[in-house]
Amino acid sequence: MKILIKNTEIITMNDENDIVFGDLLIENDRIAKIGKDLQLHDIDKIIDAKGKTVIPGFVQTHIHLCQSLFRGQGDDLELLDWLKKRIWPLEAAHDPESVYYSAMLGIGELIQSGTTSIVDMETVHHTESAFQAMAESGIRAISGKVMMDLGVEVPARLLESTEDSLQESVNLLEKWHNFDQGRIQYAFCPRFVISCTENLLTEVRDLASYYRVNVHTHASENLDEIKLVEQERGMRNIVYLDHIGLASPNLILAHCVWLNEEEKKIIKERGIKVSHCPGSNLKLASGIAEVPDLLSREIPMSLGADGAPCNNNLDMFNEMRLASIIQKSFHGPTIMSAQTVFRMATIGGAKAMGLDQDIGSLEEGKKADIVILNMNDFHVYPSFGVDPISRIVYSATRADVETTIINGSIVMENRIMKTIDKSIILREANQSIKRLLKRIARLEKFN
Ligand code: GUN
Ligand code: FE
Repeated sequence: MKILIKNTEIITMNDENDIVFGDLLIENDRIAKIGKDLQLHDIDKIIDAKGKTVIPGFVQTHIHLCQSLFRGQGDDLELLDWLKKRIWPLEAAHDPESVYYSAMLGIGELIQSGTTSIVDMETVHHTESAFQAMAESGIRAISGKVMMDLGVEVPARLLESTEDSLQESVNLLEKWHNFDQGRIQYAFCPRFVISCTENLLTEVRDLASYYRVNVHTHASENLDEIKLVEQERGMRNIVYLDHIGLASPNLILAHCVWLNEEEKKIIKERGIKVSHCPGSNLKLASGIAEVPDLLSREIPMSLGADGAPCNNNLDMFNEMRLASIIQKSFHGPTIMSAQTVFRMATIGGAKAMGLDQDIGSLEEGKKADIVILNMNDFHVYPSFGVDPISRIVYSATRADVETTIINGSIVMENRIMKTIDKSIILREANQSIKRLLKRIARLEKFN
């Protein structure tokens, strides 16, 4: 299959930050050529993108697809209450069908807003259904079941034995890791330190190293969380992760809002990847991560929307805008430029996933994960004399995403979803959350 995108502005995000006016040829799953007036034969499909802008698909490095159904069910709470009162009971109520529709709802939103790759954390059970949704929808993902073998006020259904948690993770890994030539990969996902025994965490360390896969967890998101870690383990959170040997380049940490100097040094020295989640951190009142400081230390930084019930969207345009403007009152207007956050949203995310050889920029030989923006509307005009990346980060919205291509397959064209039946997903999302809320109400009568 050959697709030619013609006559367009191509924001490559290569090392030179080249912006090219011309054509881009996709051959099967890869970008075969970028150039001016490509004269080609045997093209299966031509997309005339004159007056439009082509960018690398966004990479979000912290998402919970299993929580998409919980959008609006956990507003105005702080992290630990949000988990205990709303999220854990809802996750405990999930069934295979509800996990599937939750994932499809989230993926639909992601594709529609230009995200082509995610690092995702599922719930304890029914992760098979989420992988099914990822497989069918065409999204690129690193994902795994969440692991929880410890904790207070955790619903019984979510609390697993260490052995079951590890065994189920390995079973899923063996089935799904490298599915569709690596479009889907597995990661071990211990929830956060206070949900996991040390035995679980050290087993995860060894298994991740044996299978050469990532470990994805939450860390130092909230002051109460890090206080609990310190009480239980006698160390600061990141110091503890290092102490047990989890701190390594395959570790992707969501949040990292509250770090001391020693912890920042560990993150830098061990090559840990940090996923910054500004929307979630603000809405859960967790705090504001010291991103400019982390960037100045050359710590690999990327962006994620986190879950629908703590954001309440999965929209990279929101996250880019917030990542930039929340820092300016502290550090002055030049901090976190549009360039800086766009880099985090694309090639930065690819580096976090360990996939920067394949995605994150538009270059010949890379995978064709591509978004076409149609920025011809009131809110993004004038275009004349405006830096194109400024337009994307500060003015554009998800409504400007016209076409999304992942792995060379068109998954949305002219805003029509190609792999997801929107009307079915919206209907079943409502049916599913209705069922889960009923299930919780019934359980509460028994308690
Ligand atoms: N920490 C532990 N679990 C979660 C979760 O589901 N979401 C967020 N934002 N933080 C967490
Ligand atoms: Fe999260």
